[in-house]
Amino acid sequence: MSDHEHRHDGHDHRSHDHAVDQPDPETWFEPSGWEERYSSEEKVWSGNPNPQLVAEASRLTPGTALDVGCGEGGDVIWLAQQGWRVTGADFSAKGLARAARHAAEAGVEDRTDWWQVDARTFDPAGRTFDLVTTHFLHPPGGTMVEVTRRLARAVAPGGHLLVVGHAPSEAFAHSSLQHRAMFLAEDLLPALPDDFEPVVVEQRTRTMTREGVTREVDDSTLLARRADSPA
Ligand SMILES: C[S@@+](CC[C@H](N)C(=O)[O-])C[C@H]1O[C@@H](n2cnc3c(N)ncnc32)[C@H](O)[C@@H]1O
Repeated sequence: MSDHEHRHDGHDHRSHDHAVDQPDPETWFEPSGWEERYSSEEKVWSGNPNPQLVAEASRLTPGTALDVGCGEGGDVIWLAQQGWRVTGADFSAKGLARAARHAAEAGVEDRTDWWQVDARTFDPAGRTFDLVTTHFLHPPGGTMVEVTRRLARAVAPGGHLLVVGHAPSEAFAHSSLQHRAMFLAEDLLPALPDDFEPVVVEQRTRTMTREGVTREVDDSTLLARRADSPA
């Protein structure tokens, strides 16, 4: 989806990609579409961490983290550099391979590992993390609520869930399919289990430059904390 066009530091460093101009609804949301995007020689993303991750994770004590839809690993690497032990998850094998290579280049391979999962069917299989984060995943047709419900199951007691994506916007919609994949932070509240308390539920405006055009975009930002285990 147009998730593909945001960029972390407000600048779009994505390599030019014909799929952006003419998204194929059959493959856009599927691993094959992402494998193709990650087959180019160039980096698709800047490698800089996403601003809402930096804003929120900087306030937390480093522990274990899971980044779902980690792409080329910019957020994973930044978290590892802050002292977290991080699992990067994505359904694209090529994306994960690139992320692992970038983590090695950044000297954080001993703090990172990789997990090939589809967020739409994600099952944490008993693993839990102090922080579960996802940025610009945008599964189709409103399924981000279900994905959020699944991700919440991977949050350890006392841990945090951070979900960030595009608020519905013409800036990112190349098709109605993509438009329907965007969400507001409050859309995700029904996905939170009873022992989660919302901490941030808002659209945060940031300035982004893409292909020479600077505009304001809204990052839908949900941060929720899971209660500690009862003593
Ligand atoms: C727009 S990119 C964002 C990458 C990274 N989070 C960032 O902000 O730079 C979306 C990423 O999510 C992955 N992805 C999309 N749908 C997915 C799904 N259902 N399960 C797992 N990964 C998915 C894609 O392979 C891609 O790497």
